[in-house]
Amino acid sequence: MTHATSETATAIMRANDRGGYTVPTAGLYPYQWNWDSAFAALGFAAFDRDRAWRELETIFEGQWADGMAPHIIFRNHDPSYFPGPDIWGSNTEPPSSGHSQPPVVAIVARWLVETGDREDLRRAHALFPRLMAWHGWWHRERDPDETGLVAIIHPWESGRDNCPDWDAGMERITIPDDLGAYHRRDTDWVAADQRPTHETYDRYLTMVKFGRECGWDHKRIYRDGPFLMADPCVQFVLMRADRDLAVLAERFEDDAARRTIADWIARDAEGAQALWNDAAGGFVAREMRTGALVDAITNASMLAFFGGAGTRAQQAELADQARQILDLCRFGFPSWDPRRPGFEQRRYWRGPVWSVMNWMIAGGLDAAGHADLATRIRHDTRALVRQSGFFEYFDPLTGDGLGGPDFTWTAAIDLALEHEFGAAAAA
Ligand code: GLC
Repeated sequence: MTHATSETATAIMRANDRGGYTVPTAGLYPYQWNWDSAFAALGFAAFDRDRAWRELETIFEGQWADGMAPHIIFRNHDPSYFPGPDIWGSNTEPPSSGHSQPPVVAIVARWLVETGDREDLRRAHALFPRLMAWHGWWHRERDPDETGLVAIIHPWESGRDNCPDWDAGMERITIPDDLGAYHRRDTDWVAADQRPTHETYDRYLTMVKFGRECGWDHKRIYRDGPFLMADPCVQFVLMRADRDLAVLAERFEDDAARRTIADWIARDAEGAQALWNDAAGGFVAREMRTGALVDAITNASMLAFFGGAGTRAQQAELADQARQILDLCRFGFPSWDPRRPGFEQRRYWRGPVWSVMNWMIAGGLDAAGHADLATRIRHDTRALVRQSGFFEYFDPLTGDGLGGPDFTWTAAIDLALEHEFGAAAAA
């Protein structure tokens, strides 16, 4: 059985290969997505290491002059996706979206180096300045006051697009009269009850309009934009990725980079504390303009272990919360706490389980000494695929496959788990 799923996973990755980069799934997502490609590289490493590196390298073909690696690169115009390049107005070649996504690449690059040979080291070295520029962009543009807490300017930047975490920031947005009519394409592919509502979409586009109209001036967007929140997923992935980048800097004997990264790391551990919510018993999202904390645990909260965030007491509390939540689910880890209002077991990021989040959560739990929880989560991740196929996400109560089919990152993570690819030990 395991063998059969590996073959299918490999076939899916090959079928979604567009020559140097993969699409997440044909139809629904016809372009290159940033963190999808980082996870895809992990899957490719199971059968083609050169192709794994290509996947990482192509992410940076869309890198902006200021260092940002955008969340979508629009190489071939495909009208089946909305909002496309004209709505974003990036004025870059290739065209892209105007914000980023969780910076997973350095984590995978370090892992490739540590499990590889001199060729891996060479490819990582070539990518290193690009990675430094991108991480630098996060620390500069998304944390201009150097607090150690990075913000996001759109829920899409978190990668957890429709999570109730963003409701507080979304409610503050006024939809302008001149937003204009548009035709969503996502609901042509996936049932509406698994996708965001129409009003949510109007707000998404209001944020894009602001960015486009100020020429994607990120200083201005941070200061005056319609949405500014902090996300435990971005914060913890960046913390983890900074540590992995530090290990690479060490390998390349790059002292200047080492000093820069050490500053980032020291600050971020401090900044992460602004996400701790005692009442919820975990790290949660924060509305940056008011300082309000969300009151529920998500799968992003569980990345604290992976990011190396929190005190021993905080991590113990989080592990306890993880146990309680897993007891309520047939398959972990849900994207929203089932004990909280707002839990929807089938709707995009409001309850369902994602393989990529699980891979990171399990890696962190293992490193923190919670092998029982890590094993449960890895087991569930593979069981979901065996029961339902390689879907985009899954119902935590029934295991039903939801969203797009034949999904690249679901296939990649299944291969990674099959081959026991875990992130390298924390630095
Ligand atoms: C959705 C997800 C996002 C992902 C993209 C492509 O927008 O929320 O995280 O990158 O799909 O798979």
